[in-house]
Amino acid sequence: MKTCLITGGFGFIGSNFILYILKERKDIAIINIDDITYAASPKNLPDNLANYKFYKINIADKPALSEVFDNNEIDYVVNFAAESHVDRSIISPGVFIKTNVEGTLNLLEVSLKHSVKRFLQISTDEVYGSLGKEGKFSEKTPLSPRSPYSASKAAADMLVMSFFHTYDMPVLISRCSNNYGPYQFPEKLIPLVVINALNNKNIPLYGDGKNIRDWIYVLDHVKGICAILENGKAGEVYNIGGDSEMENEEIIKYILNKLGKPFSLVKYVKDRPGHDKRYAMDFTKITKEMGFFPVYDIEKGLDLTINWYLNNENWWREILSGDYKKYYKIMYDHR
Ligand code: NAD
Ligand code: TYD
Repeated sequence: MKTCLITGGFGFIGSNFILYILKERKDIAIINIDDITYAASPKNLPDNLANYKFYKINIADKPALSEVFDNNEIDYVVNFAAESHVDRSIISPGVFIKTNVEGTLNLLEVSLKHSVKRFLQISTDEVYGSLGKEGKFSEKTPLSPRSPYSASKAAADMLVMSFFHTYDMPVLISRCSNNYGPYQFPEKLIPLVVINALNNKNIPLYGDGKNIRDWIYVLDHVKGICAILENGKAGEVYNIGGDSEMENEEIIKYILNKLGKPFSLVKYVKDRPGHDKRYAMDFTKITKEMGFFPVYDIEKGLDLTINWYLNNENWWREILSGDYKKYYKIMYDHR
């Protein structure tokens, strides 16, 4: 039995990862470290999971992190924990540095001290910046982050790589495009559109609505992460993409159509400052080295996601009735 320590396991991608591993891999035990921020949903994971332990810890708290490593034998570390929303990073960047940069440094230091066998940093395509109409990001594209969120993720990537070169630590980095699927917090585009449409509420579309993202269903990302964790080469970066570029306007039209709601719900609002125009991923490296390819096409993935939100109304209504109301007001009332 190997033990994999995950940070951010109550978030969107982290909880999908844990559920997948505990179902598919009886040879891996999970330790989940999460500080239960606004973005966490502890109910994503059932009670009494086998081969599973949880610690409520902020990764910026190094002594608390050290204690977990002192008391457990840890083979792998996967760092999902982050402040993850670009719009929030524009309003309050400080916590992004605390968690995404300082937190990652703490985790690296403690993992190095305890000689973990693999350290996988979950990064993002946003560290590469913004594309024009042509081209894709490859692992060799220079980093050019343009939001406080992506700058904090790029800083973390640099620290991770520095531990490879300086201490010969077996680190890896995965950089993935925009995820969607079950358990995504409603502040992100796809759940926000589904939920607002179901509530017959306006859907805020930034700028001209023509910004492009490469969408990937979360389970494809999870499978890519597993492949890198087991078969990636230490010191390497691996891109993961969904091969599904779509304009925001197009994706909203698709969702409204599926829900039988009119496009008149869409309200074009003031653009996000520094809004990256287009992301697109060249992920031939992971395909060639590990045979990875996303299996969910965008229509299948979106249909599964829409159905999940339709069938899990309690999950998102609980979030809507909490602090999220305040954030939504600050974000959208003035636009
Ligand atoms: P999320 O916001 O849904 O979840 C983040 C989780 O981390 C939450 O459970 C939160 O409580 C926890 N957390 C936050 N700060 C913490 C701290 N200081 N200490 C301990 N726990 C803390 O995020 P997500 O969408 O699941 O993203 C997970 C990772 O994947 C992030 O590193 C993000 O940068 C990366 N990523 C996300 C996407 C995407 O489309 N969502 C795409 C590429 C990469
Ligand atoms: P988001 O889900 O925040 O992901 P990211 O900014 O990390 O790519 O946004 C996806 C796209 O949707 C992005 O181009 C911004 C746009 N967007 C809107 O137009 N309206 C919204 O209310 C939100 C949240 C995003």
